[in-house]
Amino acid sequence: MPRALIERAIEAAGWAPSPHGRQPWRFSIVESIERRSALADAMAVSWREQLALDGQDAETIELRLRKSRERMLDASLLIIPCLYLDELDRYPDPERQEAERLMAIQSFGAAIQNLLLSLQASGLDAGWMCAPLFCPDLVREELGLAEGLIPHAMIPVGYAAKEPVRRPRRTLDQLIVDWS
Ligand SMILES: Cc1cc2nc3c(=O)[nH]c(=O)nc-3n(C[C@H](O)[C@H](O)[C@H](O)COP(=O)(O)O)c2cc1C
Repeated sequence: MPRALIERAIEAAGWAPSPHGRQPWRFSIVESIERRSALADAMAVSWREQLALDGQDAETIELRLRKSRERMLDASLLIIPCLYLDELDRYPDPERQEAERLMAIQSFGAAIQNLLLSLQASGLDAGWMCAPLFCPDLVREELGLAEGLIPHAMIPVGYAAKEPVRRPRRTLDQLIVDWS
């Protein structure tokens, strides 16, 4: 996997708009197969518990864990986008503080979309896995990330084996609810 393509994608992510230009995102790249395997093992412990809580049977749980692990190990590398809130503005009232946090998350999504578009333009394929959102402390600890970083997603990157099946999109008249 050419390093320059990943760097270009991270740079593209960095061009996303953000509240007060604070750029509330950082990225950890997990390339070595040993680290990816260790991360999959660590997350499996948490996910197994959560799926059991949902009442899923043991066979389904193990199948889902195996597929998730395969996605992590079959890719060339993983990008872990982390939300970074420490440099946001501080407000005395919880409403504005929450709006500030939401703006950061909105811009974080825009950054990830830039990342995905850049990867695609480079001829690579990527997915969006939400697993770290459900066990951010565990992922931070496993990857040795700094305290303020909140792992929010996992982007496996590689070369697509085949064209994916895409869900149909809503039509324009469903998307535009008013134009007056
Ligand atoms: C915030 C977010 C979280 C997602 N989490 C997952 C995930 O955990 N596993 C997964 O397979 N896809 C995940 N996806 C990807 C979508 O399920 C879907 O694959 C993506 O929208 C592309 O497919 P589409 O073109 O059919 O919409 C996530 C997407 C987003 C935006």
